[in-house]
Amino acid sequence: MHTEGEVSAHYSRGDLLSRLNAALLDDGVDPDRPSIEALAPYDQFHGRGLEATLEVAALVQAGPADHVLDIGSGIGGPARWFAQRFGCHVTGIDLTPEFCDVARHLTHLLGLADKVSFTVGDAAAMPFADAGFDGAYSMNVSMNIADKGAFYREIHRVLRPGAWLVLSEVAKGEGGELDYPTPWASSARTSFLTTPQETQRGLQSAGFDVIRLHSTLDEARAYGARSRAMVERGEKPPHRAVMLIHADLAARAIANTARGIHEGRIIPIEVLCRKLQ
Ligand SMILES: C[S@@+](CC[C@H](N)C(=O)[O-])C[C@H]1O[C@@H](n2cnc3c(N)ncnc32)[C@H](O)[C@@H]1O
Repeated sequence: MHTEGEVSAHYSRGDLLSRLNAALLDDGVDPDRPSIEALAPYDQFHGRGLEATLEVAALVQAGPADHVLDIGSGIGGPARWFAQRFGCHVTGIDLTPEFCDVARHLTHLLGLADKVSFTVGDAAAMPFADAGFDGAYSMNVSMNIADKGAFYREIHRVLRPGAWLVLSEVAKGEGGELDYPTPWASSARTSFLTTPQETQRGLQSAGFDVIRLHSTLDEARAYGARSRAMVERGEKPPHRAVMLIHADLAARAIANTARGIHEGRIIPIEVLCRKLQ
């Protein structure tokens, strides 16, 4: 199987919507009338869930006339938050067809279909015109992309000069190789981690000004401790996307990530850039 097919197969089981609906019912939420808040434990599929999306949104400015690109949009939680927060249009692109189907369904239920749309496609070869977007973000996606140079150049191509870009990703630490599965990869074959320094250099080579690159390790540790305390009290953890999407793989994926963070094998980072004029 080629890499993109293997990445997509890692994320897709074919019954995501029925499992999401069952999870919402268990939360006491009508699956046909969920609120954006009720979906947040499930549709924010990255470390620290909604907390991280709010942080990314706080780094940028966008207005109702802006067109924002969500690269690797998953089932669309971040795209819908951006559209609601800024009133902007958001286009999501994602490799996994089932995710785009569920993303469109949820967006329709929330009445945001005039603002937010989803396209199936590869972030390293996007079906979009040059300079069409005013800003872009990508949350926990780059770890699946082998050719980082092509990825950064493609983002650069579709952004207008001066546009912002925020990447949140899991970077490679100095603590050694990770154990798999993780939430983003069943094995090392589809996991392509780079160090923070490599990410910075790659973005600069593609024509971005890297304004701020910072580790969110402390935030990840604090979030993990809060989640564990909730589970020990018999409550549901605040972030349930990995459990929903990966089902039987989830417990090992979560444990491997937590150990990777604890042992310095991985570092969650956020990077704010601007496309040079
Ligand atoms: C961990 S999920 C994050 C989803 C979403 N960004 C979020 O935070 O809710 C990673 C996503 O990246 C997508 N993806 C991985 N490689 C991709 C590629 N080359 N092009 C587009 N999407 C990709 C996967 O299909 C998956 O939806």
